[in-house]
Amino acid sequence: MPLKKLSVTAVRNLHPVTISPSPRINLIYGDNGSGKTSLLEAIHILGLARSFRSTRLQPVIQHEHQACTVFAEVALASGLTTSMGITRSKQADYQIRIDGQTIRSTAQLADTLPLQLINPDSFRLLEGAPKQRRQYLDWGVFHVEHQFLITWQRVQKSLKQRNSLLRRGRIERSLLTPWELEFCEASERMDAFRQAYLLKLKPAFESVLGQLIELDDLTLSYFRGWDKDRSLQQVLDSQFERDCQLGHTQAGPQRADLRLRIKGMNAAEVLSRGQQKLVVCALKIAQGHLLKERGRQQDCIFLVDDLPSELDEQHRNALCRLLEALNCQVFITGVEAEQLANSWQTDTSLSMFHVEHGHIVQTDRRLE
Ligand SMILES: Nc1ncnc2c1ncn2[C@@H]1O[C@H](COP(=O)(O)OP(=O)(O)OP(=O)(O)O)[C@@H](O)[C@H]1O
Ligand SMILES: [Mg+2]
Repeated sequence: MPLKKLSVTAVRNLHPVTISPSPRINLIYGDNGSGKTSLLEAIHILGLARSFRSTRLQPVIQHEHQACTVFAEVALASGLTTSMGITRSKQADYQIRIDGQTIRSTAQLADTLPLQLINPDSFRLLEGAPKQRRQYLDWGVFHVEHQFLITWQRVQKSLKQRNSLLRRGRIERSLLTPWELEFCEASERMDAFRQAYLLKLKPAFESVLGQLIELDDLTLSYFRGWDKDRSLQQVLDSQFERDCQLGHTQAGPQRADLRLRIKGMNAAEVLSRGQQKLVVCALKIAQGHLLKERGRQQDCIFLVDDLPSELDEQHRNALCRLLEALNCQVFITGVEAEQLANSWQTDTSLSMFHVEHGHIVQTDRRLE
């Protein structure tokens, strides 16, 4: 869903600005501290109501301002245009409007504007906690399976109830039964959605990875969060005493993970930083392909912050070939305009934006 027009007010050092990005490749260049990442952050806030750089929004809102606003006109697959905007204040409340209507749930933002972020921290997807890989996986499932969100909410609610009963100490097992039934039913369903998605993700990932880097031994597998040979109810029964002692539920989809291994070892412990980044790029581009294949022909927007970081020229070019082939809107930043522009094929149309002290100027010319 490409952005046709983007307006940003009071995000970091950016001066109020409206730009008309290309539906394809947008190169954002400028010196350190000029505001390039801030522009990507603004788009991220529009799609997810939060930043990727800080958990709180307060540091993102411009000093001396009480709120920041991001507004966009978005081209829909139907050929129509919709508008979406978000205002977030220092008091942490937000106002979202899509097509003139006030929206309460950020899920609708994410649904309208699927985003994929690749930045210098991306390697953390491999190295970090399982939660990040679950979020990655669930992003994909959410966008292709409409029932996923409601199922996920059922899992969260029943799990919370079960855990709060477990924390009471010695309790009658029967008290847990209604929540357990709900938890198991929703969890098995959620697992089925995740497994179905993974069946498609694996070949897409392997194909993209093969075009980026040779890592034949790398395997991607899914752990659902409990023993694959038993039902969740059987596992909960067998772990009841331990759950009581710990005061929370050990098994379930809240423990699911994606495992990336090389020769039986955790890929994060074997691969170099650059290799890890390429694996993460392949994971994210594969999701971009799956989103496109879905009936609604939806596209996601790729935000690539600091393209050259960790990547040599050959791999940078390979990544750009894949982004070109995906045929979606890309916002990509770097310090050097030439280096950014030279990574693309000569017939790819590029829009270029120079960022200087928070001012953004469209320069739109291919640097020779
Ligand atoms: N809340 C804020 N209000 C005003 N300015 C801010 C705020 N938060 C950060 N800044 C400033 O915004 C500027 C833009 O930072 P940004 O990270 O976008 O730069 P960049 O162009 O991506 O730089 P680099 O090339 O180093 O990655 C920095 O100079 C930073 O000090
Ligand atoms: Mg930056």
